[in-house]
Amino acid sequence: MKAVVWHGKRDVRTERVDDPQILNPRDAIVEVTTTAICGSDLHIYNGLIPAMEPGDVLGHEFMGNVVECGSAVKNLKAGDRVIVPFAIACGACEPCTRGQTSLCANANPNAEVLDVMYGHSGGGLFGYSHLYGGYAGGQAQYVRVPFADFGPVKVPQEIPDERAVLLTDIFPTGYMAAENCDIRDGDVVAIWGCGPVGQFAIVSAFMLGAARVIAIDRFNYRLRRAKAAGAETINHDEVDNVLEALYEVTGGRGPDAVIDCVGMEAHGQSPDAAVDYAKQAVKLEMDRPHALRELIMACGVGGRVSVAGVYAGFADTFPIGALFGKGLQLRGGQTHVHRYMQPLLERVASGSVDPSVVISHRGTLDDAPQLYSTFARHDDDCLKVVLSGA
Ligand SMILES: NC(=O)c1ccc[n+]([C@@H]2O[C@H](COP(=O)([O-])OP(=O)(O)OC[C@H]3O[C@@H](n4cnc5c(N)ncnc54)[C@H](O)[C@@H]3O)[C@@H](O)[C@H]2O)c1
Ligand SMILES: [Zn+2]
Ligand SMILES: [Zn+2]
Repeated sequence: MKAVVWHGKRDVRTERVDDPQILNPRDAIVEVTTTAICGSDLHIYNGLIPAMEPGDVLGHEFMGNVVECGSAVKNLKAGDRVIVPFAIACGACEPCTRGQTSLCANANPNAEVLDVMYGHSGGGLFGYSHLYGGYAGGQAQYVRVPFADFGPVKVPQEIPDERAVLLTDIFPTGYMAAENCDIRDGDVVAIWGCGPVGQFAIVSAFMLGAARVIAIDRFNYRLRRAKAAGAETINHDEVDNVLEALYEVTGGRGPDAVIDCVGMEAHGQSPDAAVDYAKQAVKLEMDRPHALRELIMACGVGGRVSVAGVYAGFADTFPIGALFGKGLQLRGGQTHVHRYMQPLLERVASGSVDPSVVISHRGTLDDAPQLYSTFARHDDDCLKVVLSGA
């Protein structure tokens, strides 16, 4: 079959690889109809996620038709059209029964590495390095879906792929990011990063009762999309100081809650950002946490800090004093995507949210190398790329 394969930093190729096979009774094979490129894939593309191996098949946002089921999969049959959660989860372990499916205790066969790096390992992810299980991803014609009796959700025929596929990650991710803010009616929520995740965090913050959302990025085309969703905007390259800009528009209080939708590749021109660039380049620091520092400093007293952006290792000059001194609460992590897919699918089915509005670029698997580059360089006002599985 055809698949999008990682070969090294900024080296992604569409190649022939072996077709996936059923390995376990709870597996299914899905023929991919639509898959997407995520900001998380860009961290891999830019060579910042450890434990990638040349030949790894990328992709964790995908949907398609079931073609084969293992003997234990009774809820699906060939021909069913499904969206597949990006996190792999058994549904029965302790984290899964708490609804924390991205932390499944049975999904990561390589857990011993993260046990050392983080104290305990999270679960398994499609197409996201050998740290997270080394599973082949969904930017391919076919994919093996483990625990298929638990994860995939059937999609009614009348919902087109482009409205459904983003339920496999970024709509739930934006939603959980907003939920982690415990938004109260009347809250002002500030969101760093207006990529696809930031866009869904904006929509979700309003859904959960925010009175005002202030969105921060440096790309005007992304800020325009944020504005269309009702946010006020700050271009961080056009203001002297983001903290002062936020101070001004919140009457000096700062936002009630802040969300990081940027992650480990933050841009910035301040001295801390310059040090991060230099240290990340020589692998002395895994993450560039400039936005994270800034949003903790900006958050009002007693506020909530939600981290949806991906971080991999250790951050320098983390403002722990501000976090402590202002009594902030911090939450984050990989999205427990299973628990949001069905309720958010219902919002899509009712027409109250159309996730496809963020899609700017479409192509086939053969177009993936070019479209990875377009998305990574923010060329051509690129906001979200979807690929047909052909
Ligand atoms: N928690 C999860 O489960 C989960 C799921 C999906 C994606 N993510 C992560 O969410 C993050 C965003 O994903 P995306 O698809 O929207 O990616 P993206 O790369 O399209 O968007 C990131 C945005 O952050 C902006 N940015 C960079 N530096 C900034 C700064 N200093 N201040 C404000 N904005 C800044 C960029 O201009 C860009 O628009 C990534 O780190 C991704 O890995 C996490
Ligand atoms: Zn993703
Ligand atoms: Zn589990």
